[in-house]
Amino acid sequence: MNTNIPPILLNSYQNNYSSMKIIDIEYPSSLSYIGEEMEKDALLRAASALDTLLRGDGRGNEFLGWLDLPVSSITKESLNQINKIASEWKERLELVVVIGIGGSYLGSKATLEALSNPFNLYFGGTPYPSVVFAGHNMSEDYIAELLDLLDKKEYGVVVISKSGTTTEPAVAFRIIKRHIEEKYGKERCADRIIAITDSKKGALRELSDKQGYRTFIIPDDVGGRFSVLTPVGLLPVAIAGYNVDSFIEGASAMREKVLSKSVDNPALKYAAIRNALYESGKKTELIVNYNPKLQYIAEWWKQLFGESEGKEGRGIFPASVNFTTDLHSMGQYIQEGERTIFETVISVNNCKREIRIDHDPNNLDGLNFLTGKRVEECNRMAEIGTRIAHVDGGVPNIRISIENIDEYNLGALFYFFETACGISAYMLGVNPFDQPGVEDYKVNMFALLGKPGYEEKANELRSRNI
Ligand code: PA5
Repeated sequence: MNTNIPPILLNSYQNNYSSMKIIDIEYPSSLSYIGEEMEKDALLRAASALDTLLRGDGRGNEFLGWLDLPVSSITKESLNQINKIASEWKERLELVVVIGIGGSYLGSKATLEALSNPFNLYFGGTPYPSVVFAGHNMSEDYIAELLDLLDKKEYGVVVISKSGTTTEPAVAFRIIKRHIEEKYGKERCADRIIAITDSKKGALRELSDKQGYRTFIIPDDVGGRFSVLTPVGLLPVAIAGYNVDSFIEGASAMREKVLSKSVDNPALKYAAIRNALYESGKKTELIVNYNPKLQYIAEWWKQLFGESEGKEGRGIFPASVNFTTDLHSMGQYIQEGERTIFETVISVNNCKREIRIDHDPNNLDGLNFLTGKRVEECNRMAEIGTRIAHVDGGVPNIRISIENIDEYNLGALFYFFETACGISAYMLGVNPFDQPGVEDYKVNMFALLGKPGYEEKANELRSRNI
């Protein structure tokens, strides 16, 4: 097997977007695994799937609004409105609770984890409100501990639900709404609550209209997991002090690349190669990062691909690992366990800070061979060494590299994965934009909780032995 992985050089940190590639994709180890014929065939099928996406006549075509978000739906005016609220809240609030689940929280959570100094949450350190999340779980302890924090902070709420009826965020909002009303008075808290929801329907729309909350709209033709470039993703990111204009610029630059039928289209290549690997027996895709800031990008990616592709008995299983951390937990399995895995590595070319390893005259730890090297160089050699070891163990990889972790590159990365996901799901033959399987647990939960109308189901479930 050819382990031909090109050397990676340490580049200096730079911000010159005009001269840089936004995303690079390479896959020599996967090519040696699938062969050139299979690559060619997969690329042709990916191009035809892209055609379907662009013609808008494939399955789920009523949900293609995300394709144009960066160039038409998100206008200068809506960005200004978002930035205006962010500066207003910066002056007034210490903390903002973002309530949502799935596509209504993962995009902003991923962006904030990627852009923030992780220690600021504990020690402040920015002039902007801290953003925390709720409504993405049903843990009583989580909500109770959050309420303890809200007792002490000057806070506001952004509640996000496209349907306006999802149970987890609705329960969290009911509890937090009561807290904020008791703390500030019912009349005085309307300007501390913003709802992002459907333009006309759903309980959250009705409640917002009644209570006079400010609202943003999630377009009808944009599904939850494709909504990071709408106010769903943009408002929490702007509130935390990040540049949403640049986020949209990155997405817009990526749009030009990935909607073209060029051989350099990285989304075509990614969709083609992951499908070819799947067809050759690699059923699990591990998204790999070497920077803890990207951990939630992987969570967002898992929802995007898992919910879009996992249906009708088909779909690559999307999983994730954080290296080098997980090399000490999952590394053994990846190296020698069942050979049904391939890896997609997200590499970041530049880091913002520089730390070099010192010379130690005693050298008790034996690390003087690293004297003068940057920590990031160790990280890169860990990446190259791991990729080669995994390829040798039968785990081919695709490497996706971005220049920097910043708003521009993240906007581009989100748009890249969304387009690749649409193409890939059409190659698989499924509807990328529905999620019928998500309903099943809800029906059971409602029945077990005694929701009116679910009595028969509840009796059936109570007789089950699981
Ligand atoms: O992608 C999707 O459609 C889902 O993951 C939704 O985002 C998630 O279920 C939350 O739905 P809603 O925004 O309607 O509360």
